[in-house]
Amino acid sequence: MSQTSASIATPSLLTDDERQRLLAQYAEIAALAGGLAHEIKNPLSTVSLNLELLVEDLAGSDTPRERRMLKKVQTIQRECDHLVDILEDFLKFARVGELELEAADLNQLLREFIEFYQPEAIEKGIEISPHLAADLPAVPLDCSLFRQVLQNLVLNAQQAMPKGGLLELQTGVRDGRVVLDLIDNGKGMDERTLSKIFEIFFSTKPGGSGLGLPTVQKIVRAHGGTIAVDSAPGRGTRFSISLPPAV
Ligand SMILES: Nc1ncnc2c1ncn2[C@@H]1O[C@H](COP(=O)(O)OP(=O)(O)OP(=O)(O)O)[C@@H](O)[C@H]1O
Ligand SMILES: [Mg+2]
Repeated sequence: MSQTSASIATPSLLTDDERQRLLAQYAEIAALAGGLAHEIKNPLSTVSLNLELLVEDLAGSDTPRERRMLKKVQTIQRECDHLVDILEDFLKFARVGELELEAADLNQLLREFIEFYQPEAIEKGIEISPHLAADLPAVPLDCSLFRQVLQNLVLNAQQAMPKGGLLELQTGVRDGRVVLDLIDNGKGMDERTLSKIFEIFFSTKPGGSGLGLPTVQKIVRAHGGTIAVDSAPGRGTRFSISLPPAV
C-alpha cells in the first residue's frame, strides 16, 4: 500500500516564528489565488452566456459563411466552459477552510450518496456493492465537504471503468479509527501516475483539471484523517480513508 503525502514545510527544521511567517505567506498566496480565480470566473461566465446566445442566433443560419462562424463560436464556447469548470474546481479546492463538524453516521451518508448516484451508475454499467459495518462509531464530519470527497472518488472510479465495472464501498474500524474503502476494478494506475495523483493540476485525462484528488486529500486531512491508495494497472484501485471517531 503506497501513501503519498506533501507538506508546505518541515516543522522540525523551522523555528516557530519562521513557521508562522511561512503559514501567513501561504495563507496570503492562497487568498490571492482564490480572489483571482473568482474575479476571472465572473466575466468569463458572462462571455460564456453571450456565446450561448450567439450560437442560438447562428444555429438557424444556412449560408456557408455563417455555418463556419457557428463552428468557430462553438469551439470558443467549449473552451470557455472548460475554463469556468477549472475555476470552479480551483475555488472548491481553495475554499476548504473552517469545517462545520457534527457527529455523523458515515454509513448513513454513504447510503444517501448511493441512492443519489444509483441512476448514473446504472446508466454507466457500474454495480455498486456496499459492505457497511454494523455499529460503526460516529465520526465528526463536515457532511457537505465529505460528500465532495465521495463525489470526486466515485467519479474517478467511474472514469476508470469506461465499460462499466464493480465499485465496492466498505466501512469498518481498524486500530480504533473509522475506515472507508472505495475499490474499483477499473484500469488502475502505474507507479509513475500513482506517485503524482495528489499533485495539484496533475491529470491523465483530456480536459481533467487535476484538482479532484488534491481537494479530497485536503478535506480528509482537515478532518484529522489520512488517505492511502493501492493500485495495479489493469486490475483496479483502492482508496482507503481513515478518520478519527468522535470522542
Ligand atoms: N480510481 C482511479 N483509477 C485510475 N486512475 C485514477 C483513479 N483515481 C484517480 N486516478 C488518476 O489520478 C489522476 C488525478 O485525479 P484527479 O481526480 O485529481 O484529477 P482528474 O480526475 O484527472 O481531473 P478532475 O480535476 O476533473 O477530477 C487522474 O487523472 C487519473 O490518472
Ligand atoms: Mg477526478
